[in-house]
Amino acid sequence: MSMEVSVREILAIYDENAPLSEASTIPAPWYVDARIAELEARTVFSKTWQMVGRVEQVQKSGQFVTANVAGEPVVVVRGNDGVLRAFFNVCRHHAAAVVTEPCGQTSILHCPYHGWNYGLDGSLKGMPEFDGVKNFERQQNGLVPVKTETWEKFVFVNLDAQAVSLAEFLGGLVKRVAPLGVGKLHHFDRRVYDIHCNWKVFVDNYLDGGYHVPHLHKGLNSVLDYKQYTIEIQDRYCLQSSPMVASEEDSATGATRTGDRAWYFWQYPNLMINCYEGYMDTNLVLPIDVDRCRVIFDFYFGDVSDARRAYNQQSVAVGARVQDEDLGICEAVQRGLNSRAYRAGRLSVRREAGEHLFHRLLAADLKGGAGNEAAAAD
Ligand code: FES
Ligand SMILES: [Fe+2]
Repeated sequence: MSMEVSVREILAIYDENAPLSEASTIPAPWYVDARIAELEARTVFSKTWQMVGRVEQVQKSGQFVTANVAGEPVVVVRGNDGVLRAFFNVCRHHAAAVVTEPCGQTSILHCPYHGWNYGLDGSLKGMPEFDGVKNFERQQNGLVPVKTETWEKFVFVNLDAQAVSLAEFLGGLVKRVAPLGVGKLHHFDRRVYDIHCNWKVFVDNYLDGGYHVPHLHKGLNSVLDYKQYTIEIQDRYCLQSSPMVASEEDSATGATRTGDRAWYFWQYPNLMINCYEGYMDTNLVLPIDVDRCRVIFDFYFGDVSDARRAYNQQSVAVGARVQDEDLGICEAVQRGLNSRAYRAGRLSVRREAGEHLFHRLLAADLKGGAGNEAAAAD
């Protein structure tokens, strides 16, 4: 008899039907078992809409962005007909990446390996030294398409050809974000963090309804009215929001985090959108392996003129400080999840409804996916 606990048994530990007042977190093995990470790649990241770039990067024909989604290389490119398309960035000849830059503009997709050329619509245009090859249909050897759509400033792809539309996937988030006018903001800067924790630890930390803010983020706490913090969950999103107050203790935070309210949106599974007046940052959480993730922060401002540069840089620095405070705690949590002393934890009814939603959505995808895979194997 095998000593190893099966994936099915690990999934069964979590009860997604428990109400918040009786619920526990997803169990520790979900954060440390490589088989769960592999199941997530297949049933979560290969099935959900994933943000891969900004609309402004693919505005003109020939402009492209590349990304890696659930281990799959993807390219999104604007055609000469103005249509935005995505493809697996895998040459039909011997599988090299056709587009090798993160973003740019081109008139043709040219494979660097043996020089095959594809049009911006993915069709195979030419293959050097291929005369005499029999039973080869050029029309059947275009780049393999991937679904792509845009929302607000963002470009998304979905590896699942059966996926619902992006608008349906985002659900109530679309209406909730619309009044904030993020379309008027301009991209300013990017910060990338590699963190020694499972990607879900970072998401959990984000979704604890401000629970950790007074303890871990003293500067940020000084501008939020913590007692008035609200948590709204619907569809696949959670909105955490707080009225803003003037900071007496922290002038850098007070100067760069302004307006009536702070808006913190999370969209399942791995995207956060944080807004203050004239400000937005997005956080995209990408699993690297079971105990490492990469978080990409993009910063946007209403005014990105030179006159405003120093202010915007100060604002990014305030964000980076909060991030550093979160980083250490996420790595400590990952170590604790590996401990034999920990199995799962309870949730605060006042604060942790967002985590509860996250865990239930995840459980549905993992259990549904595992069930389908078992059925397919029978
Ligand atoms: S792999 Fe692309 S041309 Fe050979
Ligand atoms: Fe935090």
